[in-house]
Amino acid sequence: MTARPLIVVGDGGHGRVVREVMRASGSHRLLAVVDDRYTEAGERDGVYYGPLLLLRTLLADRADAEWIVAVGDNAARRALVERIGMGEERCASLVHPAACIAPGVPVGPGAVVMPGAVANPGARIGAHAIVNSGAVVEHDAELGPFAHLSPNAALAGGTVADEGAHIGIGASVIPGVRIGRWSVLGAGAAAIRDVPDGVVAAGVPARTIRRLAELPPPYAPQPAGGGR
Ligand SMILES: CC(C)(COP(=O)(O)OP(=O)(O)OC[C@H]1O[C@@H](n2cnc3c(N)ncnc32)[C@H](O)[C@@H]1OP(=O)(O)O)[C@@H](O)C(=O)NCCC(=O)NCCS
Repeated sequence: MTARPLIVVGDGGHGRVVREVMRASGSHRLLAVVDDRYTEAGERDGVYYGPLLLLRTLLADRADAEWIVAVGDNAARRALVERIGMGEERCASLVHPAACIAPGVPVGPGAVVMPGAVANPGARIGAHAIVNSGAVVEHDAELGPFAHLSPNAALAGGTVADEGAHIGIGASVIPGVRIGRWSVLGAGAAAIRDVPDGVVAAGVPARTIRRLAELPPPYAPQPAGGGR
């Protein structure tokens, strides 16, 4: 397998973990790290570093290069994907070799699956979703676009964590339950009933503790090669 050049957007803690998943999987090699914390472009040990603007230049120069947004916060990740506005055909997905993904489980563009994660038959992992270390997506469970399953969290069979939902570290969702769009399920929570869209729920059993101010409209990927 030839390792494709990869541009990783985001140089924070999650970005470093995503780069390690890339290294371990061998599917890609690091071409560049872009982040607006860099005010100008530079090169170190064969890797380019620079502001987000550098992404377009590199993708234009390198027809084989792919990109991924490696920012853990779901809303920030979506905002970056929309700002990039490139369509998803050159968007990489990354799966650590120590993850166990059943054959036929789709892993959407921009999604990343960390070591020790499991996705069983019929599971679906949406675009730009994160399945963090040791998390479980049981059979027929769905992780929507921009959703994030934190370390050691579990979605039981037939559950849904809808677009942008954040399932906190060690939280559980029992069979058939839906976690609504952009809702947050607190660390260690047990969701035994549906959680509506746009709320923060916590505890065992999980109860709503507050509502989010506003929800973004449903995600619609940019058309291929799109730009703004
Ligand atoms: C649930 C959560 C989002 C709430 O954050 P918040 O809105 O800032 O809420 P606060 O910290 O102000 O807490 C509000 C109340 O909820 C309680 N609470 C907060 N998190 C809780 C949790 N995980 N379980 C049970 N109760 C919780 C607090 O004790 C507080 O109760 P009180 O009003 O009786 O004092 C946050 O605590 C949490 O669990 N985040 C998950 C983080 C995570 O797993 N990250 C993984 C990164 S990979």
